[in-house]
Order: sequence, then structure tokens, then C-alpha cells
Amino acid sequence: MAKRISLTRYLVEQQRVAGHIPSELRLLLEVVARACKSISQAVNKGALGGVLGSAGSENVQGEVQKKLDIIANEVLIEANEWGGHLAAMASEEMDGIYVVPNRYPQGEYLLLFDPLDGSSNIDVNVSIGTIFSVLKKPDGDRGVEESDFLQPGSHQVAAGYCVYGPQTTLVLTVGDGVAMFTLDREQGSFVLIQENLRIPEDTKEFAINMSNMRHWDEPVKRYIDECLQGKEGPRGKDFNMRWIASMVADVHRIMMRGGVFMYPWDKREPNKPGKLRLLYEANPMGWLVEQAGGAATNGRQRILDVQPTQLHERVSVILGSKNEVERVTSYHSAL
Ligand code: AHG
Ligand code: MN
Ligand code: MN
Repeated sequence: MAKRISLTRYLVEQQRVAGHIPSELRLLLEVVARACKSISQAVNKGALGGVLGSAGSENVQGEVQKKLDIIANEVLIEANEWGGHLAAMASEEMDGIYVVPNRYPQGEYLLLFDPLDGSSNIDVNVSIGTIFSVLKKPDGDRGVEESDFLQPGSHQVAAGYCVYGPQTTLVLTVGDGVAMFTLDREQGSFVLIQENLRIPEDTKEFAINMSNMRHWDEPVKRYIDECLQGKEGPRGKDFNMRWIASMVADVHRIMMRGGVFMYPWDKREPNKPGKLRLLYEANPMGWLVEQAGGAATNGRQRILDVQPTQLHERVSVILGSKNEVERVTSYHSAL
């Protein structure tokens, strides 16, 4: 039987052999993975663990919080605050940043996360996940501030997601390609399944919430319309459609077999640049997709080049198979 490589060993080798990550970052990623294991346990228990349903509160973005949104947020904070590797954290579920309390040593990293992605799927037993991004705190002796988090995605030093689906799968990059691990529940450890994940450059599958079609901008309408015309249309091939409504699960499918995912700006709320959040959804996913040979833009610009101005800033997202993302992006500049 082939030797099994645990996440721990993979990270040690990334640190020791490949020299890609300092030990502090290795510890950070181990701790995030441990937190994901714990969230996976809670997700698995479902109603038996009393974790389903609404928490009866709203987050800073005006979204109703589910019990699991809050549980996952707490698990990630409790796991990460005492290790000495972090200066502060930011999350979809917290208004401002969470500075590591004084009683613990402060590290040099900043951790951002969407603790529970796909909240509308929790109670219906459909795949959900956790998305995370790691930045370095800018140099300087002063304490950490919210503005330290406002770095473009190209500054990320690690990014990943964990899908809680039929399997619990962790997908990770530290800037040297993308690796995928599956949780072995008996052993309690993540096991390496595949290194150097590659997204095919071409695809016949798109993911978008079609119910918003009437609100889309022209370039998105044109792209989807051409796909829908199938073999008889300008693309000369039939397309398939998937929409899970958990970005994590839609992106994971694209990691496995290609495709293009879009949550574009639309006319419902014209003042918002999009629905998805730049710092803890689009940036980590954008970097993972690029590391796997795909592309990620907001229609006009590479997502990783967007300079954030707010912690919970939103962005239009087009990501996945390179040639399709480039096509949709070119339709935006054609106008
Ligand atoms: P979250 O549950 O973290 O708020 O994110 C949900 C996001 C994303 O995961 C998904 O792609 C999208 O919202 C689904 O939105 P619609 O329900 O509008 O399709
Ligand atoms: Mn989300
Ligand atoms: Mn969320």
C-alpha cells in the first residue's frame, strides 16, 4: 500500500525541504486544520448536536446568523488565539478585527476567515465549508490595526478552504501549487490525496445563480446567453450548469474538473460591487484557483490586484478555467 502522507508531514516538508514556510506559519496552518476538524464534527452531528437553525442575530452585513456560523467562528478564534503565531483575526461574523488578547504572545500573522460558507445549505444537509486567508502584519512596533488587513490578495502567504461534504476535504496553497487532503476520521488526521491540482483551461460547465439573470450586466448576459445556445450557437458546444450556493463547494468542483464560477455585480444593489467578500472569500479562492492554473477577475481586473479599502468589502467574482474567465473578462472591456 502506498505510504500515507499526513498534513503534518506535508507541512514539515514544506518547511524543511522546500523552505517555503517558516515554522510559525506551519503551526498556524496546523491549528486552522485542527479547527476545521472540530467544525466538521459539529457539522456531522447536525440536529443531534443541536447545531442547526438560526442564532437569532445578524452580522455586520445584515445577514441572519445561523448557529453554525457562530460556532465555527468561535472554534477558529479559540483554536488560534493562544498559539503565539497570530497578531489578529478578522471574520465574516465579526464587525471589527479580533486582536490576540494581551495574556498571549503576539505573532506576525493575520488570519482572515469565512468560518461557515454556504450558510443557506446548513439546515438542508448540503455541502458547506470554511475559507481562510493568511497575511503578514506589516512591519513596525505599533499594535495591530484594521488597516493592516487591507492588503491586496497578491500579498497572501497562505490560503485554503475545507469542504464539509460527503468527505471533509482541505485544500491549501502556500504559493507552491495546490494540495488536497481528506480527513481520516478514525486516525483524526488529514491525509494528502493530491498535489499540484490543475484546473483544465477549457470547460463546458458554468456556475451562476440564474435567478438573477434579469439583473445582470450586459457582458455576463452575453456570456451566459452564448453558453445556453449550445452547439447551435457561437460557442459550438453544449454547456452544463451547476449552482450549489456554497462557494466552497462550487469552487471545489472547479478544482476537480474545471468550470467557471460567477457571482457578478448586479442591479439589485447597484452601489455594492458584488455579493461575495473580497478579503475572506474572493482573495483566498482567487489565489487557490490561480495556483491551480486558473484565473480570477472582477470583470475588469485580476482579483488579487484589487486594493481593499474596507474589511468587509465586496467584489464581483469570475473565476475558474482560464480561457473562460478570460473570455468573460474580455466581454467587459469590449463595452
Ligand atoms: P455565506 O454563507 O458565507 O454568507 O456565503 C454564501 C455565498 C456563497 O457561498 C454562495 O456562492 C452565495 O452566497 C450564494 O448566494 P445565492 O443564495 O444568492 O445564490
Ligand atoms: Mn461565504
Ligand atoms: Mn459565511
